[in-house]
Amino acid sequence: MNSYCFSFLCYLWIYLSVFSFIHCEQHCNGDVSLCSRSYSNVTYLVTHDSYAVGSNIAATQTLSITDQLNQGVRGLKFSAVAPSSDPAAIHLCHTLCNLLDAGPASKTLDTVAQWLQENPDQVITIMWNNLYDMKATHLAMAYTTSKIAPYIYEHPKDQPWPTLGEMIASGKRVVNFIDSQADEEAVPWLMDQFSFVFETPYDNRNPDTFKCVIDRPTSLKVPDGRMYLINHFLYGNLRLGAMEVQIPQRDQAAMINSESLRNQTMECIQVFDKIPNFIEVDFYEQGYPLEIVAQLNQIDWVKSESLPETTSTLPVPTTIRIQRHHWIPTHIIIDNGAFKSSVQLNLPLFHIGCILLVFTFSGL
Ligand SMILES: *[C@@H]1O[C@H](CO)[C@@H](O)[C@H](O)[C@H]1NC(C)=O
Ligand SMILES: *[C@@H]1O[C@H](CO)[C@@H](O)[C@H](O)[C@H]1NC(C)=O
Repeated sequence: MNSYCFSFLCYLWIYLSVFSFIHCEQHCNGDVSLCSRSYSNVTYLVTHDSYAVGSNIAATQTLSITDQLNQGVRGLKFSAVAPSSDPAAIHLCHTLCNLLDAGPASKTLDTVAQWLQENPDQVITIMWNNLYDMKATHLAMAYTTSKIAPYIYEHPKDQPWPTLGEMIASGKRVVNFIDSQADEEAVPWLMDQFSFVFETPYDNRNPDTFKCVIDRPTSLKVPDGRMYLINHFLYGNLRLGAMEVQIPQRDQAAMINSESLRNQTMECIQVFDKIPNFIEVDFYEQGYPLEIVAQLNQIDWVKSESLPETTSTLPVPTTIRIQRHHWIPTHIIIDNGAFKSSVQLNLPLFHIGCILLVFTFSGL
């Protein structure tokens, strides 16, 4: 074999192995093993009032929605509010629009749509806290006036949930729930949350009150086949004159999102005899909620470089260890946008390297 032939084969081999590594496996929400799991058989990290970002006292999050999604958050919780200045509009506010107004809901939905377009192998959930009992048809306008409309998933009545792989293949990758005023006839895709998902109490003032009981829907006494959500965030009270306002507890987030979260998750798994589908937190970058969710999904988790070092001194949980059957690691997880783009950026370097190699071997 002459040297040109050898270098050509070398080039081909490197090219094919790099390419097959990057392109051949379908990844669903960051892992190939999730592709065959039904939507209702996966655990998702949900950010409470995902849009309430910044240093504002009513903010529940530090990082933007795009950062959240890049780092592995797969559920967004929105509060629909009609601002007093424009009662026909739908804004995302927290606590009071006067305290925190993140603007028109359709604008935030556009941001989510942009992320979905850049991340074609991801399924997400949007949950609406319909604070002011808006009509479903009215809330639906925030979607129809946004770029998110083509991604809306509509669940066929009384059917089992599709797998993540099926949802990704269909392009319908946004599941939407609302906690009041669902209108199955007029807006079938904006589903009544409590027909599908029950949840633990959300109004917690100290870590001792995180309980594994069914809070909503109140009619449900024992868990049935429904999915469930664990609310794990704290409120404190702020007095504004005669008024008391609930505010998130940022300085306790690292503590709340660590052992306390792990403990409640473990307890709920025992009490409800099922792994949670949704875990909802404030300031998700504090503590280790993403690790807990990855463990529940039995997948490895690659910490995003853009995630700040955890302020928690607690070790990463070791007690949530679910027996992993038939598990053979076959690939490296590309779990977030930051890591993915760094792989893509390296590709041209690979090509240049290969071409140099070809030239070296062929003696040119
Ligand atoms: C998914 O299915 C497995 C196997 O049936 C079960 O052990 C696990 O609890 C389920 N997880 C969720 C989140 O439903
Ligand atoms: C978590 O549970 C363990 C075992 O029950 C307990 O010792 C510990 O104090 C709990 N931690 C928190 C933060 O609740």
